[in-house]
Amino acid sequence: MKRTKKRIGILTAGGDSPGLNAAIRAVGKAAIGTYGWEVIGFRDGFQGLIDDRAIALKKGALAGILTHGGTFLGTSRLKPHRAETPDGIRDLRPQIVATYKRHKLDALVCIGGGGTHKNAQRLVEKGLNIVSLPKTIDNDVAHTDSTIGFDTALNIATETIDRLHSTAHSHHRIIVAEIMGHKAGWLALGAGVAGGADVILIPEIPYDVESIAAAIKRRVRHGTSFSIIAVAEGARTAQDTRAFAAALRARKRAESEAEKLLAQSTLDKLESAHAGNTLKLAHEIEQLTGLESRVTILGYVQRGGTPSYADRLLATRLGTAAVDLIAAGRFGVMVASTDGGTRAVPIEKVAGNLKTVPLDHSWIHAARNVGTNLGD
Ligand code: F6P
Repeated sequence: MKRTKKRIGILTAGGDSPGLNAAIRAVGKAAIGTYGWEVIGFRDGFQGLIDDRAIALKKGALAGILTHGGTFLGTSRLKPHRAETPDGIRDLRPQIVATYKRHKLDALVCIGGGGTHKNAQRLVEKGLNIVSLPKTIDNDVAHTDSTIGFDTALNIATETIDRLHSTAHSHHRIIVAEIMGHKAGWLALGAGVAGGADVILIPEIPYDVESIAAAIKRRVRHGTSFSIIAVAEGARTAQDTRAFAAALRARKRAESEAEKLLAQSTLDKLESAHAGNTLKLAHEIEQLTGLESRVTILGYVQRGGTPSYADRLLATRLGTAAVDLIAAGRFGVMVASTDGGTRAVPIEKVAGNLKTVPLDHSWIHAARNVGTNLGD
């Protein structure tokens, strides 16, 4: 006899972000409470599906977690199609499909960012019924207005910039605040505008140290002897941006295994040279302006702790909408947030598609209009 009560799985993958527990709770409560289904949580992202580390999520497990940071299911950055095993790199998707079938799942909810959507698409292609939710503090998932965790991180980064003002002011210093965002500058730009940073540097706009120094010297001439620079971790000088883009192109073009390895090693070298970029930038600005400089790296503080109200609301809207989609038999889609509503977007459109800051975005326009230097 055909089972009428559905059974769904859920996992969180990639870097954690505030609001993940709120999303798990939303999916769980809607599935169990509204539809009467069973929900199984898999630990540590796709790794939990490979190892079949499953926990039955009853109503009780979902109580009291709305305000908790992190993800109680755990997470990992594992790529199932290229997993590192003691026997080398292996495609472990067959194990995932087997676990999915063993638990007789009707659908799997994957909550994650860019990497998770690529992994989810590779499992959609293996026949799994997947519905995904966008989360990352970087806000760089394509086809959604916002991602779970971004608002909380934006608040944390903005508060940090607020706090840096008084100490920079007292000591007549430049403080360079490094904000997360390797490929997209949403967080640095948003926090920089909201916190009134004097200079904002993002990956989308290659910077020129001379232009930054000139802006800071202008402030000094007008009587302000301190400055705050908000820099996204992925912001680069124009020269470094060109070198990086060339290395990426070379990797894309590479045909033989040897060419691929060479291109990857060039990229790795550029990445590791970039690692200390914020300290280097502060030093160069100090040399060019004669003002003492300090660095504050916000780091993982941006990803930790209680989710904001907006993130709880977003997670609850998207999580419950995911369950409605499963009930309607819609699979292979991400629940996107649009104008206060939700929309189902095919995961294949999201996978491998990064949402960077458009150069004509209103935040960039606003920053320039209040006199912020964007490094160009
Ligand atoms: O989740 C995205 C992100 O926060 C990036 O901004 C950051 O560079 C990265 O994760 C670092 O995370 P991890 O060290 O956990 O890989």
